[in-house]
Amino acid sequence: MSATSRCRICDGTVHEFFDFGRQPLSDAFVAPGDSREEFFFRLATGSCESCTMVQLMEEVPREAMFHESYPYLSSGSAFMRTHFEELAKRFLTTELTGADPFIVELGCNDGVMLKVIAEAGVRHLGVEPSGGVADLAAAKGVQVRKDFFEESTATDIRAKQGPADVIYAANTLCHIPYMGSILAGVTKLLGPNGVFVFEDPYLGDIVERNSFDQIYDEHFYFFTARSVQEMAARNGLELVDVERIPVHGGEVRYTLALRGARTPSPAVAELLAWEADRSLAERATLEKFGANVTQIRTDLIELLAKLRDEGKKVVAYGATAKSATVTNFCGIGPDLVSFISDTTPAKQNRLSPGTHIPVRTPADFANPYPDYALLFAWNHAEEIMAKEQDFRDAGGKWILYVPDVHVV
Ligand code: SAM
Ligand code: TMP
Ligand code: ZN
Repeated sequence: MSATSRCRICDGTVHEFFDFGRQPLSDAFVAPGDSREEFFFRLATGSCESCTMVQLMEEVPREAMFHESYPYLSSGSAFMRTHFEELAKRFLTTELTGADPFIVELGCNDGVMLKVIAEAGVRHLGVEPSGGVADLAAAKGVQVRKDFFEESTATDIRAKQGPADVIYAANTLCHIPYMGSILAGVTKLLGPNGVFVFEDPYLGDIVERNSFDQIYDEHFYFFTARSVQEMAARNGLELVDVERIPVHGGEVRYTLALRGARTPSPAVAELLAWEADRSLAERATLEKFGANVTQIRTDLIELLAKLRDEGKKVVAYGATAKSATVTNFCGIGPDLVSFISDTTPAKQNRLSPGTHIPVRTPADFANPYPDYALLFAWNHAEEIMAKEQDFRDAGGKWILYVPDVHVV
């Protein structure tokens, strides 16, 4: 494969290593009777030969993804609610203990994290461009600015509300291609000893688990300690801590500070060494990952076609954004999976993007239970499998496709 693009971090040459082909917007669920043409783009990944950042080869306009009816709700998982509440409590007892502290969250979504901060009476601001979810946060008592965070937003917040002790972003920074503007904004908004903390899917986990469905329109970057360290250094910041966290199939929480403000923890050097040991950013590693992904497609289609031919009832569980890559890359439509069960009201009674599998409610999942459930929300497997014990008791089986196709 010879396609290249310019790196959005350092302007180096990005070499393509995998092409998923034509893909729709992962969160654009189609309303019944809506005959408008869906938006498609070429989903392909490459890595920068200079700064090693893995990124998409093509970028989707932000307004096409994040708007009034963006359907993803952060509070949709009990496990994630606890995760964010615990982090908020940690901030309250560590970084937010000075006089009149201030925390800014990028992509606060429905306010799952900031709600705890608001209840503690601590000054905060959520910056959230998707109007519908921002309204849900405001209804919880969270201060929200309906806006895309970028350099000009940061300058304005700093002028009106002063420096931030913490800038936080979960599953949001990797969504934003215009990183130069974001980090310029962060350096302007942070107080002298402030921290920029963000957590996103980790390339190390994606490659180890073959979790190719982490790759879709909204996930533009796939960070590593190495690439984040370079990105920080180019923008007056320094990577001072990393923490591997067991959410969404494996993430890293990165902490950046203004250059020289804090001493990097030993965890940074340890993760850098772990990555170097695995040749994580090297072409051969990424090409092997690509070969594994192609094998998963072959195996999954073979299994679903066999089950269909045997007359088994197969549905899917969790209309995740990730599943758009699985269904469109593998060519899985309603002929192979009759519907997808999902708890999100804005996804229900719509069709999945691209291959148009109907999305139904959990009540439909149980009425009657299918023979097999393809677990698109595999990152919430523990929570879901515990909740759906009756499905298992009724003889139901789960189909998983990471790290390989298997039935449990
Ligand atoms: N933080 C939540 C979580 O972890 O569950 C929400 C993550 S959601 C996948 C990504 C969020 O980022 C969306 O709510 C989207 O509207 C928001 N977003 C996208 N671009 C943004 C930007 N430039 N500034 C702030 N938020 C942004
Ligand atoms: P996520 O993997 O991006 O967090 O998306 C999870 C999707 O799965 C979201 O649409 C909500 C849905 N879901 C369920 O339908 N049932 C559940 O028990 C959980 C945890 C999620
Ligand atoms: Zn680069």
